[in-house]
Amino acid sequence: MTVHLPVMLREVTEVLRISPGGTYVDATVGLGGHAEKMLALAGAGGMVIGIDRDDEALMGARERLSDTGTVLRKGRFSELAAIVREAGLHEVDGVLFDFGVSMMQFKEPGRGFSFNTEEPLDMRMDRTQELTAESIVNTYSEKEIEKMLREYADEWFSKRIARAITAYRTKKRIATCAELAGIVSAAYGKRGRVHPATKTFQALRISVNDEIAEIGKGLGAALGVLRRGGRLCTIAYHSLEDRTVKNFLRVAEREGTIRIITKKPLSPSYDEVRENPSARSAKLRGAERL
Ligand SMILES: C[S@@+](CC[C@H](N)C(=O)[O-])C[C@H]1O[C@@H](n2cnc3c(N)ncnc32)[C@H](O)[C@@H]1O
Repeated sequence: MTVHLPVMLREVTEVLRISPGGTYVDATVGLGGHAEKMLALAGAGGMVIGIDRDDEALMGARERLSDTGTVLRKGRFSELAAIVREAGLHEVDGVLFDFGVSMMQFKEPGRGFSFNTEEPLDMRMDRTQELTAESIVNTYSEKEIEKMLREYADEWFSKRIARAITAYRTKKRIATCAELAGIVSAAYGKRGRVHPATKTFQALRISVNDEIAEIGKGLGAALGVLRRGGRLCTIAYHSLEDRTVKNFLRVAEREGTIRIITKKPLSPSYDEVRENPSARSAKLRGAERL
């Protein structure tokens, strides 16, 4: 299975103040990189509940954490409060959200997240879900596609790309990642350093998995289960994710529910980015429950 290096591991444990005997939720357990460290620091008297909506990620986490007593649950992090209660707890000392997709989802064949492949357009984190990227590009109206590209990826050429997608599908259903990437590249005309389909793929992934609404609901659920003095830590990888977290935390601070610990988001060190380039856009934020 593809390796996924946990991002900003030291900063996460410091912001969460992981300590022996503590109880923590890793709301995006993925392949268990952060959870493994959290458990090691929480010790035998501590507990980590790991949540993920992706069965394959959970399988990886189960393998890695099999002897540690981590409680692993399949679900969306918007369901975090119910999952914590079902695990027999009503409050916890810390919650981590490491948003987005893992390297495993991005690189394992057949997941349809990456534009260089002849794979079916899929992009579902939870493969039992009905909505796929293929159904969005083939059934949404031109206006809906344009709005999705604008709102979820700040795509400048949203109109042009939406028109190209809807024109193409009058002849043939768009089936593969490479096919969609080709349509977007042709609509762009010129090529820069970044692949022209990058933003389209980001917007589609967010839409398929309803990622922005999930962030708001997940953060709300986390505040509901954090004890006073408990800590929240988030890692975002693009501006819309980070903006959503920042706005949520600002409102919660104004309402007196939390104190923001990171006035400015933390970024990975130069050494970490050199070792793991996919960490380069990470922005970490922390808050304490009041
Ligand atoms: C960046 S990866 C996490 C990697 C993990 N921290 C590690 O060290 O291995 C993000 C994970 O969150 C999961 N995820 C994303 N949105 C989710 C949601 N709304 N509910 C539950 N899991 C979600 C994805 O399936 C993915 O496995």
